[in-house]
Amino acid sequence: MPLPLSAIPAQPHDNEPANAVRESAETLALLARRRSLKLMHLAAPAPGGEELDALITLAARVPDHGKIGPWRFVIIDGDARGRAGAVLEKVIHSDEGVDDARREFIRGWFDRAPACVMVVSSPRPNPKVPEWEQILSAGAVCFNLLLAAHAMGYAGSWLTEWPAFDERARGALGLAPEERIAGFVYLGTPTQGAAERVRADVSSRISRF
Ligand SMILES: Cc1cc2nc3c(=O)[nH]c(=O)nc-3n(C[C@H](O)[C@H](O)[C@H](O)COP(=O)(O)O)c2cc1C
Repeated sequence: MPLPLSAIPAQPHDNEPANAVRESAETLALLARRRSLKLMHLAAPAPGGEELDALITLAARVPDHGKIGPWRFVIIDGDARGRAGAVLEKVIHSDEGVDDARREFIRGWFDRAPACVMVVSSPRPNPKVPEWEQILSAGAVCFNLLLAAHAMGYAGSWLTEWPAFDERARGALGLAPEERIAGFVYLGTPTQGAAERVRADVSSRISRF
């Protein structure tokens, strides 16, 4: 059962006290056990309306050098899923080897889950903040959104898939040439639990300088 919207605390205003430290066993437990789910296991309801806006606002609380906010969010839920799918279908419609079955599949692309947030990396030229840092900030937003949604009681998955790497699809979805898709964060209610997957062997990746 998702938490109510009122469970999301207000964020501090500029210069108000914030938390440099905040012990939270629950956060550690969430980090230790969180899993993504396949889209076929994300059902309605997904967070929507004010609730989704609030989750995105939380997700955007990421390190952001220069306070640029080098990202933006496009919510694709409800009827918009069909419209966005139609846009993608138009992109591939006449591609070589594309048949009616593929066209139909692509038309239903965003119907695979009840809601999707397209996180757009939108770097701005800045003499002090390299583009790389701005792109990393967009990745942090994607993961923060997954964490926030999970803590609220929803499941999700951070995917890119072909539309993120097809210039025509990016343009058709409204991206400017300098923008990239950091991720499609799909959200919904889990229809089943999750089992652990194989994890990278972190110990072999830790060294001490
Ligand atoms: C930037 C990014 C893009 C991804 N794109 C895809 C994708 O297109 N298709 C896919 O099957 N998984 C993709 N994944 C992996 C999924 O998020 C995957 O389900 C996840 O890594 C499972 O791990 P988790 O349960 O710890 O979240 C992507 C991951 C990242 C970080």
